[in-house]
Amino acid sequence: MSAAPAVSTSNYDLFAPSVLEDPTELLTRLRAENPVYYSPQLQGYVLTRYDDIVMVLKDPDMGSAMLTGWIDQMPQEAQEQLQPLRASLDLWMGHKNNDDHQRIQRVLRRYLTSATIESLRPRVESLVKSLFDAVEGKTEVDIIQEIANPLPCNIIGELLGVPQEDRDQLQQWSQQALNLFRIADLPTLLETQKAILAIQDYMKPIVEARRHAPLDDLPSVLATAQAEGQMKSDAEILGNCVALMFGGHETTVYLIANALLALMQNPEQFQMIKDRPELIPAAVEETLRYDGPVDLITRVTPKPLELVGGHVPANSMMILMLRAGSRDPALYPNPDRFDITRPTTVRSLAFGLGSFYCLGTALARMETQICLREIIHRMPNIRPLFDVNKPDYRPLPPIRRRLETLRVAL
Ligand code: HEM
Repeated sequence: MSAAPAVSTSNYDLFAPSVLEDPTELLTRLRAENPVYYSPQLQGYVLTRYDDIVMVLKDPDMGSAMLTGWIDQMPQEAQEQLQPLRASLDLWMGHKNNDDHQRIQRVLRRYLTSATIESLRPRVESLVKSLFDAVEGKTEVDIIQEIANPLPCNIIGELLGVPQEDRDQLQQWSQQALNLFRIADLPTLLETQKAILAIQDYMKPIVEARRHAPLDDLPSVLATAQAEGQMKSDAEILGNCVALMFGGHETTVYLIANALLALMQNPEQFQMIKDRPELIPAAVEETLRYDGPVDLITRVTPKPLELVGGHVPANSMMILMLRAGSRDPALYPNPDRFDITRPTTVRSLAFGLGSFYCLGTALARMETQICLREIIHRMPNIRPLFDVNKPDYRPLPPIRRRLETLRVAL
């Protein structure tokens, strides 16, 4: 990392309780006052303008790999205990090295095509139907627990060849992995490490079986690629199974949950999609902008950068606040308003951009759209059992929060 600027120009407390409760005000201030802000707390530059974030995401020279950043800042002894976790993370999408990244991306692209995703539609529809069947007759439901969480978990489980009966376990492991995306202490990270290693151990015999009898799933694609020399090792395959499990699960949970929350907070827009279900895709797009599940992405720059909002020295870590860029008033008039009729002419930041662009966009959109359609159809009187202005958020430092529950009456 580069040396910090001699004087930090402003003082913004990214860990203040009010910020963890709701980061909107701080992000708005940062974007207006200090859009390329050096945070001594994060030892990196926090970027909040849309244009600056796009510029960094599109620059092929930028390094990613900061998943391990929090671990690297821990004392030596802790780092040693977390070595197996670090080794797994280093293999995720080959993030440490451009050639490895592109090689693994090519392998996955072969499978995650729009045709494959489209062929999954009947399966997603039938899974959604069975989840709604399971809550039929109930008067109260936690949408996260009963619908939003199991749907993507089952779909990615299926893509990874995990039998139905083991998918609850998968869900628990995957939730543990969420700790990788927040600043966590050593005991928490050791628990996370246990979960990650457990997923790898679990996937090992599945991958092994596919070597001899390939099926139409991701472990088969990865095993075949290894036989053809495009995946380098068993460890690389297993590390990427974990990455896919996590990437394909948690994010979609919160796209579904955040969409429903925003609709309940804006009943007139909820009514609009009830009257005109063809607006559901627009509601999903607006959720991705207004309350996308990925708040931030980190990058490291090997060179000095001159951005519209300011200067970043070489070898600095940058925290790209997608949440702030997606509400930049320079691109989005009235940005803090959830508006499903908003024109979608601006390129969304929600799935990243450039060389690390999400490979699961079509699947995430499809799952969420089908889920919203079923809510409208099967739960026409759905209403919140909580104050919509005070949803059940859990802080996820730095600068983030996650919905814990979404309790509704039917
Ligand atoms: C709403 C749901 C989702 C959101 C918001 C989301 C968001 C993202 C973002 C922001 C990135 C870029 C990370 C970076 O630049 O460092 C990314 C990458 C990725 N996502 Fe997603 N994602 C979602 C769903 C999925 C699903 C369902 C899958 C798998 C089927 C998936 C697989 C991936 C993969 C493999 C990458 C890495 C691409 C690469 O490094 O080349 N994502 N996602």
